[in-house]
Amino acid sequence: MNKKIIITIDGFSSCGKSTLARQLASKLSYVFIDSGAMYRAITLYFLRNHVDWKNKKEVRSALENINLEFVLNPQTGKSDMHLNDENVEALIRDMLVSENVSDVSTDAEVRNFAVTQQRKIGEKKGIVMDGRDIGSTVFPDAELKIFMTADIAIRVERRFKELFEKNPSITIEEVTNNLAMRDYIDSSREVSPLRKAEDAFVLDNTNLTMEEQLKIALKWAKEKLP
Ligand code: DC
Repeated sequence: MNKKIIITIDGFSSCGKSTLARQLASKLSYVFIDSGAMYRAITLYFLRNHVDWKNKKEVRSALENINLEFVLNPQTGKSDMHLNDENVEALIRDMLVSENVSDVSTDAEVRNFAVTQQRKIGEKKGIVMDGRDIGSTVFPDAELKIFMTADIAIRVERRFKELFEKNPSITIEEVTNNLAMRDYIDSSREVSPLRKAEDAFVLDNTNLTMEEQLKIALKWAKEKLP
């Protein structure tokens, strides 16, 4: 019997899903998968190659030329997103990608492409995957599903601090608009919109430290481990 489980973490943008997923995976010796990185890498490819993502034919042929891989970076100990053998981990966090990724992610073929790979990664279990539709669509039978949320003001503050370090010209207004727009598009799209799976535990971390949220999630995980 496989003693490993699948843990999904979904929620709004900049709730700290990846941080929690990474910490949880490390505590359990599981693999952390940032599904958003896949959508970001696809978006980067489309932008670079001037792919019109409203054109189904263009999307289909572009996807045939995209190879995505998570590759361990020995310097950081983290997995980096590689797009056609190029490390794009830093590039996919650019504002231009952030501004377009939600729109690209509404496309059914793009989602099918990403979801197929996500399910393949999950075959052996022992993963913590974060995203928007992981508990609701990608792994509806996951043993533990967490839905994260936090006040928008807190999320903007956290995201702003993170982005400001790399780009001091970024403004609070830009970050606020980007988060609000992504939340709206991600929640209202037709194909697997962001929503809490019925059996997901809600984790509102507005007033929680990272240690506190990890403690709560670990407790839930231990209850589900065989
Ligand atoms: O997790 P993130 O902020 O890096 O994700 C970027 C975008 O990718 C997000 O705004 C919507 C899309 N996404 C998605 O549609 N489904 C997922 N499972 C993960 C991300």
